[in-house]
Amino acid sequence: MDLRTYLQTALDAAYLAKGIHQYYQEKGFTHSTKSTPTDVVTQADHESEAAIRELIAERFPDHVVLGEEQGQDKEGEFRWIVDPLDGTVNYAHGFPFYAVSIGLEVRDEVVLGVVLDTARGDLFTAIRGGGAYLNGRPIQVSQRRALVGSLLATGFPYDVGRDPENITYFQRALAKGLTVRRPGAAALDLANVAAGRLDGFWEVKLSPWDVAAGWLLITEAGGQVTGLQGEAYRLGNRYLVASNGHIHQQLLDTLHGR
Ligand code: IPD
Ligand code: CA
Ligand code: CA
Repeated sequence: MDLRTYLQTALDAAYLAKGIHQYYQEKGFTHSTKSTPTDVVTQADHESEAAIRELIAERFPDHVVLGEEQGQDKEGEFRWIVDPLDGTVNYAHGFPFYAVSIGLEVRDEVVLGVVLDTARGDLFTAIRGGGAYLNGRPIQVSQRRALVGSLLATGFPYDVGRDPENITYFQRALAKGLTVRRPGAAALDLANVAAGRLDGFWEVKLSPWDVAAGWLLITEAGGQVTGLQGEAYRLGNRYLVASNGHIHQQLLDTLHGR
């Protein structure tokens, strides 16, 4: 299997999404809400996913697509996992921190990941066993060994008002005086851990489309991704903790209030 063929398709699809994100950012867009009044979806989300699906279906008619806006309609060995616009709330406000995330899973293993920051243009890519890259240059996670002084990030699910679980973890981190950001696009947060710009990240209630590509990027950049108990991460785990590896146990301890 030559993963580079699939990588080219992921790149073509990501740049199609970028064109759509930019088009609606300039032209204006309609939007509606989904699970809660703060869970926004725009024309750009829907049209990006449709364009990505069309491209994959043209090139690989047997492949399955799992996308945030249209779900998944069949089963198969090759599954593309797509967040057509991660960071929709940022996008809707014109706050330039959002991305398209595309992962390819083959027989239940993510083998390829692309995250394209469609506002800034940063392109993060990884192929299993082949390292991680930012704009074509190899990237590594940071080498920081102490949690104090690390730059951390998290995110909150749209129903945080009803389910404040992550507020507890956030408080525990802040109570230790740690530096924690909430950038608002999980796929891009993960990519930034891979690039060593963030030392760690955690979130609860992420979906496979938020995680698939960023998870592989971090693994290929030498970092660590686990569940909340430190167990190996698997897609579908609602808890995700990611780091450069060195601070991982300290971050887990903090989240658990230790
Ligand atoms: C959301 C973003 C956000 C995270 C939420 C996600 P969306 O994805 O990644 O940072 O905190 O949990 O749902 O809705 O912008 O694709
Ligand atoms: Ca998302
Ligand atoms: Ca999305």
